[in-house]
Amino acid sequence: YVPVIAIDGPSGSGKGTIAHRVASRLGFHVLDSGALYRLLGAAAKRHAVSIENEAALEVLAAHLDVQFTVDAQGEAVILLEGEDVSREIRTEEAGRVASQVAVLPKVRNALLARQQAFREAPGLVADGRDMGTVVFPNADLKIFLTASAEARAERRYKQLLEKGFGASLAALIDDIRARDTRDTERSIAPLKPADGALVLDSTDLGIDAVVQRVFDEAKK
Ligand code: CDP
Repeated sequence: YVPVIAIDGPSGSGKGTIAHRVASRLGFHVLDSGALYRLLGAAAKRHAVSIENEAALEVLAAHLDVQFTVDAQGEAVILLEGEDVSREIRTEEAGRVASQVAVLPKVRNALLARQQAFREAPGLVADGRDMGTVVFPNADLKIFLTASAEARAERRYKQLLEKGFGASLAALIDDIRARDTRDTERSIAPLKPADGALVLDSTDLGIDAVVQRVFDEAKK
């Protein structure tokens, strides 16, 4: 039996960091499902496919040639068609494109089996928007991680500066609100807490505290 911990939540809620820390403590694999949508956006750009062309995006999604690896320093490296796109897919623009292709039902469906295939022994921590609602509805533990839009924009701001990208806090708040609206109001797999999910608000909780809480729940 391969256990799954589903961590869902809005943009900038800290899911990625929490998912990686919890996974490393448990020795589990990680699925960064958002990266798949970002990668699809990058693939569309490379193959000059319009992000409105659902049929073509469905084909691209079904054949997406990606590899999740780590470099000598242990940093995550993501290859698209053999090329390192780790940095390219982390820009705000790539996130915006990802959230646009993510509203397309055929795209989501084409990525479903690929996401489920990440469930490998000894276990998986899956990070996304619909991990607990759609992709792993029978997950052993479901977490819905949230925080105020301002707190999330501030975290994103720091992250982008650390990576050497320029950023404006006001623009990030607007962007996060727009992303929230698109994620929660789309007709397919809208962002919401899964049935039975533990809702954690991290506005005033540090990362360590959230990791500990998820870890304790996983051990129950
Ligand atoms: O959290 P953030 O939006 O910055 O990035 P992400 O987690 O990498 O996801 C990029 C976009 O993909 C999100 O804004 C969602 O619109 C979409 N997404 C989704 O629809 N379903 C998922 N399971 C993961 C991401």
